[in-house]
Amino acid sequence: MRRRHLLLAMAGMALAMGGAERPTGLQALAAKRGLVWGSALSHTALADAGLAALLLENVGTITPENALKWEATEPEPDRFDFRPVDRILAFAQQNGLSVRGHTLVWHHQLPPWLEELPAKELEKAMERHVRTVAALGRGLIRSWDVVNEPIAEHGAGLRRSLWLVRLGPAFISHALCWARLAAPGAQLIINEYGLEGDDPITARKRSTLLALIDRLRRDQIPLDGIGLQAHLLAPGSGSPQFTTLASFLQELHWRGLKVQITELDVSDRELPADIAVRDARVAETYDRFLEVVLREPCVEQITTWGLSDRDSWLNSTFPRSDGLPQRPLPYDEHLRAKPLRSIIAARLIQTTPPMEPIPSRRHGSVLPIGHHQG
Ligand code: XIL
Repeated sequence: MRRRHLLLAMAGMALAMGGAERPTGLQALAAKRGLVWGSALSHTALADAGLAALLLENVGTITPENALKWEATEPEPDRFDFRPVDRILAFAQQNGLSVRGHTLVWHHQLPPWLEELPAKELEKAMERHVRTVAALGRGLIRSWDVVNEPIAEHGAGLRRSLWLVRLGPAFISHALCWARLAAPGAQLIINEYGLEGDDPITARKRSTLLALIDRLRRDQIPLDGIGLQAHLLAPGSGSPQFTTLASFLQELHWRGLKVQITELDVSDRELPADIAVRDARVAETYDRFLEVVLREPCVEQITTWGLSDRDSWLNSTFPRSDGLPQRPLPYDEHLRAKPLRSIIAARLIQTTPPMEPIPSRRHGSVLPIGHHQG
């Protein structure tokens, strides 16, 4: 209860600081602390003037939600279709936004032809795909999710995707090297979900990922950062905790990696129907999560998976058992700001990143930490 009062007070303060009528955009608040704020969007959503205006008010970077996935970009072998993504790139260019490239090598949303290829052909197809798609939007696409979700669901080892089964673990190194050739100026990212919590599966996923990173580092494979998808779940009971997250982020930092929060949203599927209860618990989860990540200097950008509840993927992929639409994002289905939006703003204003250097365990020296890169 005390925490809830605090949240409301913080929300009020954010409104006061941003002016009562038009609160300061999230990107403007993020930029003040050297961070970039972003949102995913579909190319069709751009036709909605209301949503486009909200995006321009709040974000500095956008992620095509589906338009860069393999089934969209290369529906048939060597026939590329960049029309949907071109609309998003044009919107970004016209409005001075950067773009996150999502995603080059994943096990979902693949065209059927790919799944039938023998290993040698599959490897060639991957090279052609990565080299062609990663060359898009030079200058605009500042980071690429080169490999998405490579860790096994329960955390032990790599995921037995078609890539791993047919090409072996080297598929990750190959994808990163080809991406570097095609997009020499872009940050290369491995993006993964389920890295945020305090449960044993998360702990296993983290160690598998750290071992993968160490192997890539040893082999001098290019890798600039890790994406934490952060599809979070508001807990049905108890308070949201992210007790072990800060030390995991520091492990990444010690390895010289940047961290991007790439797909943030909070599902309310374990909560009762009451909207006030759901909104409060979702907001509390965001607040606690942001409080932790905003303190870590390696975190340089935060993207939510959409801006408005209307566009959330959760209702089709993880629906509530009562069928009610979920409320996982800062704007409601009518594109009106929810209290959550003010809570996010207040967190951006309030949480200061540490200014003192963080000791590097690896080199026994001290890494200089300034403000984040914009
Ligand atoms: C989701 C999209 O939001 C949906 O529209 C699509 O039907 C399925 O994929 N992790 C990812 C994203 O990396 O690409 C997924 O996006 C959500 C989970």
